[in-house]
Amino acid sequence: MSTFPQGFLWGTATAAHQVEGNNTTSDWWHIEHIKPPVVAEPSGDACDSFHRYPEDIAIIKSLGLNAYRFSIEWARIEPEDNFFSQAMIDHYRAMIVETIKAGLEPVITLQHFTLPQWFRTSGGWQRSDAAEIFTRYVEKVIPILDGVKRVVTINEPNIYAGILAAQAGVQGKGFLPQPRPEDVQGLIAAHRAAVNILKLKTQLDVGWSVANLLLLPADPSAEEKARELSHIYDDQFIEVSRADDFIGVQSYSVTFTNSAGEIVLPEGYIPTDMGYAYLPDAVGRAIRYVNDKAPGLPIFVTENGCSSHDDVLRQEYLRGALEAVASCIAEGRDVRGYFHWSLLDNFEWAAGYKQKFGLVDCDRTTFVRTPKPSAYLYKELVQHYSR
Ligand code: BGC
Repeated sequence: MSTFPQGFLWGTATAAHQVEGNNTTSDWWHIEHIKPPVVAEPSGDACDSFHRYPEDIAIIKSLGLNAYRFSIEWARIEPEDNFFSQAMIDHYRAMIVETIKAGLEPVITLQHFTLPQWFRTSGGWQRSDAAEIFTRYVEKVIPILDGVKRVVTINEPNIYAGILAAQAGVQGKGFLPQPRPEDVQGLIAAHRAAVNILKLKTQLDVGWSVANLLLLPADPSAEEKARELSHIYDDQFIEVSRADDFIGVQSYSVTFTNSAGEIVLPEGYIPTDMGYAYLPDAVGRAIRYVNDKAPGLPIFVTENGCSSHDDVLRQEYLRGALEAVASCIAEGRDVRGYFHWSLLDNFEWAAGYKQKFGLVDCDRTTFVRTPKPSAYLYKELVQHYSR
């Protein structure tokens, strides 16, 4: 009998801004066009998934998966303060319907790193009414969530708060700077308000997805520092999840700190193209870490993957990752889904298009999608683990 429970979600994940293209009313679009540039390149047309999402969904189905995690774009739905575009709301409804028709469960993220530019310039998460503004948007999209079972409110509030701090000029130590408490409070308040409204008005299961950095001491002198940073980067966000229906766990690697709080890669570790330690079993460590901190809370691995130009490395990573997830389930940990990041090679934020997280290559000019061997391996592994 399979280790994986009945109804386990096997999927891939994307985020609107990273694949859709031309998200011109978002804060990121503006950031991408600052002169002199502060990011590697602008997102431009991305993978044109705004128009080609039926093709994306068909690929996911052809890989024998049963779920697709994607985000709906607040900046398109509310491009101006309190103007809600019905056409964009309809667009995302059509995407949800297409996903369900393909036999895939849509897992919807309401906010994945991008904001409407008007909200950002008027103070963003630090506005005193940020939670109200966010829930006003959430209420508008409730009608299109018919047939959806699970919603992620905010993607990686911990990494996101670090990105916001970096964009405000705070310096990090070999990594994103520490989140600013004002952003963290704003994000937590917005999450709680969104959960409340969704629980009041729908039957949805609601949570947020937290990156698990898993801070480890680079040497014994850094043990205290690792504990301190764990609280700042990981634990305070996991604690918030305890009141939710589930937690999304997102894992790519583990993170090493020295006693000065600088993020380092100790000798002996191979870096991925992102510079993280290449550790296929990181996801297993992340699941155990989160499960021990929030016992009883169902876990969905909402992101896990490896940036590499070498698809052989990705295949090895995927095998190791799924073995690690299987071991966690065998230990009795309540893991209910796995979403590989990402379906497509896409816009990797400040790093642009040179990072390759995709199971599927996307030609930068023709947008032709070509599944890589790792995509077919994922298909085989899912069949294997579902037996
Ligand atoms: C984010 C994604 C990102 C991925 C790989 C996560 O931090 O949710 O948007 O592309 O990791 O870096």
